[in-house]
Amino acid sequence: MQEKFYLTTAIDYVNGAPHIGHAYEKILSDVIIRHKRQVCNNVFFLTGTDEHGVKIQKTAALKNITPKQLCDENFSKFEAAWKELEISYDKIIRTTDEQHKKIVKQIFKKLLENDDIYKHSYTGLYCSGCESFLNPKDLTEDGLCPDHLKKPEEVTEENYFFRLSKYKDKIIDYIKTHPNFIQPAFRANEIINQLDNIEDISVSRTKASVQWGIGVPDDDSQTIYVWIDALSNYITAIGYDIDNPSEQFKQLWPADVQVIGKDIIKFHSIYWIAILMSLGLPLPKTIFAHGWITIDQSKMSKSLGNVIAPHDVLKSFNLSKPDAFRYYMASAALSGKDGNYSDEDFKEKVNADLANNIGNLLNRTLNMLVKYFDGKIQENFITDKNSKIAILANNTKNQVIEKFNSYELAEASNLIVSFADAVNKYVTENAPWQLAKEEKMLECAQVLYNVLEAMRYIAIMIYPYCPNIAEDILVQLNQNIDFSYKNLEWGFIKSGKITVKEKIKPVFLRLDSEFAVDKKKG
Ligand code: MSP
Repeated sequence: MQEKFYLTTAIDYVNGAPHIGHAYEKILSDVIIRHKRQVCNNVFFLTGTDEHGVKIQKTAALKNITPKQLCDENFSKFEAAWKELEISYDKIIRTTDEQHKKIVKQIFKKLLENDDIYKHSYTGLYCSGCESFLNPKDLTEDGLCPDHLKKPEEVTEENYFFRLSKYKDKIIDYIKTHPNFIQPAFRANEIINQLDNIEDISVSRTKASVQWGIGVPDDDSQTIYVWIDALSNYITAIGYDIDNPSEQFKQLWPADVQVIGKDIIKFHSIYWIAILMSLGLPLPKTIFAHGWITIDQSKMSKSLGNVIAPHDVLKSFNLSKPDAFRYYMASAALSGKDGNYSDEDFKEKVNADLANNIGNLLNRTLNMLVKYFDGKIQENFITDKNSKIAILANNTKNQVIEKFNSYELAEASNLIVSFADAVNKYVTENAPWQLAKEEKMLECAQVLYNVLEAMRYIAIMIYPYCPNIAEDILVQLNQNIDFSYKNLEWGFIKSGKITVKEKIKPVFLRLDSEFAVDKKKG
């Protein structure tokens, strides 16, 4: 068993409510962490909200409320969304938390003491969407920020600067010598190219332009740059303190994986790494950058009016549990690539994989077990680990672990579904109903046993995506609710009564089935 696993997500801006892009990242992270809990004892999952900066200040001013009121209002929406999606974080940090603010000041002071921060007068183009100065050569032809399609503001200020250029070679060297550091690996070159032109960065703004933030220590005229404040959450949340770090920090840091979107990879694999180097702290093992989710193939944006909240998806399909949505999102894109959400595709995919492929397989098999064997398994039904299905089950398990180790979640879910496909095919080929007709009862029983054991494997492997469905499968199989991978050994279903006719229930209803429609009416 791995000793510990610490996962962080990007912390979301609270100038609006959560949408399915934010949800995508938290679901991916939750799927990873639930899997890690299956294989590792000491697991910690951090998420949070990024509550300072011009963007929040401006949105609050427009709404005629204080920035803190805006943060509180929207923080509750994020909290509620993560609860509904069953995001099992251990801590949700807010950058307005007092302890965080105190340690960020300490970090800034330390960087000053290390002579990595100096004062400098500067004119630049600031995009409040990115909360970042932009390089004029990166703007669109019309002079807009390429991500937010807004004109950046020209700002002339005397700010504090961080000597990023000093760390350039060290970071390049680190990326080159640590192939797992940036994942997927195809992003590493992008970062190395960006590092070629890296300059020192402004790490404060004047109080006149940004009041909503953490003040620079011993300088009333400046606010700490929101990205320095935000990135520090990964260590402040677990008790970092320069002189007296907590036991939890010593145990958990460095993070095993920091999950972020591809748009903020520069901040994480360059700025953050340089800060850690300056503080003399170990570096995260992996920065995993996922792709972006589009809606019906278009970028989600307020102006297009296509922003979807995760709650709306669950509500429109009358789903009381988040499993189908979690499963769909976590399988929506191959590792690091962009993905798309559409209602039609969602319905099709979950009906095919969860209702037909997995749900029906379980249902049919349990019904046959009742019909032919009174719902009971006998000692001689139990097959050994050399049966064709057992070998396939164990191979699938090993491949799924590998995929999880490289954060290929869609790829892992595809393996699980392919396994269910293979088991369905096995049932068709071996036709247990035919064997029963021919009175080959032992053969029939062993086929059913193989399928039920395979279903147990599927339940445990699919658990990170669909925790409720996985639990229902184990309940239907009359097994202990324990998703640990140590249970993934062939032959765990023992002799005895498994079920009776009245207990057999579908674990997932087709989204357009009569049941679902009835539920909607009710
Ligand atoms: N506050 C910064 C992150 C600071 S981390 C120290 C930020 N916030 S955000 O709210 O704009 O985005 C939070 C996360 O959600 C980012 O990782 C971002 O990539 C992700 N996503 C936002 N919209 C998304 C999609 N449409 N699709 C997938 N992920 C998206 O950036």
